Amino acid sequence: MADFSLSAEQESLRDLARKFARTEMAPHAAECDRTPRFPEEIYRKAFDLGLMNLNVPVDYGGSGLGVFEACLIVEELAHACGGMTTSVIANCLALEPILLGGTPEQKDRFLKPFCAEYNLASFCLTEPSGGSDAGSLKTRARREGDHYILDGEKCFITNAPHASLYTVFATIDPALKTKGITAFVVPRSAVGLSTGKDEEKMGHRASSTSTVRFEGVSVPVADRLGEEGAGFSMAMRTLDQTRTPIGALATGIAQAALDHAAAYSLKRQSFGKPISEHQAIQIKLANMAQSVHAARLLTWHAAWTIDRGAKGTLESSIAKCFASDAALHVADEAIQTFGGYGYMKEYPVEKLLRDAKLTQIYEGANEIQRTVIARELLRQYA
Ligand code: CAA
Repeated sequence: MADFSLSAEQESLRDLARKFARTEMAPHAAECDRTPRFPEEIYRKAFDLGLMNLNVPVDYGGSGLGVFEACLIVEELAHACGGMTTSVIANCLALEPILLGGTPEQKDRFLKPFCAEYNLASFCLTEPSGGSDAGSLKTRARREGDHYILDGEKCFITNAPHASLYTVFATIDPALKTKGITAFVVPRSAVGLSTGKDEEKMGHRASSTSTVRFEGVSVPVADRLGEEGAGFSMAMRTLDQTRTPIGALATGIAQAALDHAAAYSLKRQSFGKPISEHQAIQIKLANMAQSVHAARLLTWHAAWTIDRGAKGTLESSIAKCFASDAALHVADEAIQTFGGYGYMKEYPVEKLLRDAKLTQIYEGANEIQRTVIARELLRQYA
């Protein structure tokens, strides 16, 4: 029998995340968005509570949670602030290639000291010349004896200015396309590695985003993840794992928008009664509630699929794509419910629209999700 109930442990994880989100994150969300500010003190507290390295096994110092539990946490955090949540979960994305492609020795060497204290890592795949066509990346890795020399530039890299570790995808030969892509672990201290200015973003402004440049960066062969050419499928398998939590992040934003809109509709009067009594508003709220519910269920289903050991490529793309489209729509409808006030920065809903927008773009634009969905689907009919 299918079962949607949460275990006592899952309930308590969700409660922990909800309490943290409401008491530590939400009170600072508007200020960090406006300034903008990267609230490192909040991220340190998230680490202390075990809310950061969610996917890293306990043996390596992480929380050792499944994707389902991670989604429960991420939705709660995103209800308070999408931007802070992006920064809190960026380690999961950056460390996943080590979990997937690292040898036991590499996992010990990279993950244990990293997870023993507060540290940030960044996932370096996207480049200025293209994000969606990840197979055409241009950052070069030239082998010289027992080292590789990395040259190139990555962009839109979450937490990059604050990170101490980078998982980097580079090509040993662009002519090999996806088969030339190779993954490396590079510490912040590597000579020739530099980060650019913090990007001024539309949303997720409590998160930090910049370029990362590699100029003759020497990386020992021992810090390569997997074989030469194994990097592309490692990146894809990483995204299969992490797109589902982005569905949860979008669901959290959407739930927050619905909560604000419903509460406001009960207080705001027009034509002599609360606007919640007008059918026009009731229909909006009903549609918003359907979208939130469907986004959550698709996310839970994708997480459940992956936690059962399946790849979940199709399910995670469906969850990420649907939930992020839903978040944008629900945030838009929340603004409409607030009317003119919704458009003002004094009220919380315009931020939700700006934060929702990024969920349609990062971790694979929704056009790419639809490409993946169609490919997976058609494979079943071929
Ligand atoms: N798992 C394992 N292997 C996979 C895979 C998967 N999910 N998807 C593809 N592969 C393998 C294929 O099997 C194929 O292997 P073979 O050559 O051995 O057959 C190889 O990879 C190439 O696959 P494709 O031919 O499908 O590759 P493609 O060039 O057509 O690209 C794509 C496919 C799906 C469009 C891919 O480029 C893609 O996902 N692009 C989007 C990238 C992305 O999501 N970037 C986000 C960056 S992270 C970020 O935004 C986060 C942040 O900072 C917060």
